Amino acid sequence: MLKLTYRARQPGRERLGALVVFCSEGRPTPPKGLPAPLSRVVRQVASLDAFKGKPGEAQLVFSGDAAIPRLLLVGLGPADKLHREGLRRAAGKAAQGLRALAVERAGLWVPERSAALRGEVSAAGLGEVLAEGALLGSYAFNAYRRPENGKERPKELKQLTVYDPGRLTSARSVQQGVLRGEAVCLARDLGNQPANAMTPTQLAAEATRLARRHRLKLRVLERAELERLGMGMFMGVAKGSRQPPKLILLEYRPARKASQTLAFVGKGITFDSGGISLKPGAAMDEMKFDMCGAAAVLAALDAIAQIKPAVNVVGIVPTCENLPDGAAVKPGDILKSYAGQHVEVLNTDAEGRLILGDALAYAIRQFKPDAVLDLATLTGACVIALGHYASGAVGNHDALMDRVVSAGKACGDVVWPLPNFPEYGEALKGKYADLQNIGPREGGAITGGLFLKNFVGDVPWVHLDIAGTAWGVKGVGHVPNEGATGVGVCLLIDLARNWSALARPARAAGARASRPRTRAAGRSA
Ligand code: BES
Ligand code: MN
Ligand code: ZN
Repeated sequence: MLKLTYRARQPGRERLGALVVFCSEGRPTPPKGLPAPLSRVVRQVASLDAFKGKPGEAQLVFSGDAAIPRLLLVGLGPADKLHREGLRRAAGKAAQGLRALAVERAGLWVPERSAALRGEVSAAGLGEVLAEGALLGSYAFNAYRRPENGKERPKELKQLTVYDPGRLTSARSVQQGVLRGEAVCLARDLGNQPANAMTPTQLAAEATRLARRHRLKLRVLERAELERLGMGMFMGVAKGSRQPPKLILLEYRPARKASQTLAFVGKGITFDSGGISLKPGAAMDEMKFDMCGAAAVLAALDAIAQIKPAVNVVGIVPTCENLPDGAAVKPGDILKSYAGQHVEVLNTDAEGRLILGDALAYAIRQFKPDAVLDLATLTGACVIALGHYASGAVGNHDALMDRVVSAGKACGDVVWPLPNFPEYGEALKGKYADLQNIGPREGGAITGGLFLKNFVGDVPWVHLDIAGTAWGVKGVGHVPNEGATGVGVCLLIDLARNWSALARPARAAGARASRPRTRAAGRSA
């Protein structure tokens, strides 16, 4: 992986394959302190109108300088419109450009944090967003590629130095960005692995690796235990596969005892064939990405364990395959949930909500969290509704929703709340049981979310449908055009990092009717 370092000085005698210089739109000017010969080159390019500094624009120029032979000019767009996400994309674009040049060592000159950023990016945030963007832009999934027949593998970008002679930011800030960037890349790696490699067992092994590395508490519940606990919905989905299901529980606790707890629940279907309600063949391979919610949760805990925010964070990942088999759950089957409701499975392809319903109810009973977020590639309907540039959200608590939306806006994992009127949920009343697992096709992202609402009781909760944003994103500077994006990782990190107690109303609206019947509330009946 790309190594990033910070230097509060100019490039000295070190040789760099290329140096990235960011320019605002208009007549690009060299940043303060850039060595004179390089500044001259920037001015010359500007005078030729060869480069305007538009967002996403990148221009390679040869400097004539032996130590730094290439400058990569990267546009930031109009100075008065630049925000954090613009800078992250520009840094991503820069790293993609450097990769294409096949240089091993490169530099990146810190852009001036002019009034342009409207205070949105502090000195502490500047190095972070540059490092994060650069790491994300340099990402590639090459685990299964050999160098092309006999040819040497093209040189990889190994070392990127952030030069900051004006001390506009700090080494610590860059280091924070590295942590975040590495976590997102981890989520991408987990997502991109094919389903024959990233099985539920392997996902649990990854969680074990993280737990060891950061001394996090880990428990992995196996099939027998899950059955004993009565997770009928989760077990119903899992029983069509030879791969054993797992419930991964990963806990971060700060050194100083914290009173609040956040629970992050991630959908970990390592392959979704649809089960007996088999999916059509076209693009079914993409259903290896059906564990991207799980990947985001595990990766976020990796970063959180290092950032050490003052709040307890639990990661909960129900993981299994959804396959057709002689033992698989069938349409019409009725399953008993962990919370006690009976659920009629009308479509075995609506499996995410089944495993999540049990995981959410268990998380709440076990960890008594102050707020719960779940991330799931839950519905194709969400992709139709919102496309690839915003995740859909359904929740039961306005203040938590507001926080999630603003955290998403700040970090670039954009979240769009969907309406959640009770009428949408009515369709989930079962014909033969308490609930059924599907509603009408129309508004499917909302009913999918509202199904989960039945399992969270009055605990503040937000569900994020990342079906559109977890992969298939095109033309965004720091995101590869192919494969998993790592969406949600930064959002979860920031929620934990900036957490402070949520004012909790006496009871979330409409909670009484949907309160899970946990043991304490009469489950033993
Ligand atoms: N994992 C899919 C959702 C999905 C589909 C994500 C396509 C991204 C792209 C989920 O398990 C599923 O199959 N949902 C069904 C629900 C339906 C049967 C109510 C869907 O969206 O078709
Ligand atoms: Mn499905
Ligand atoms: Zn699925």
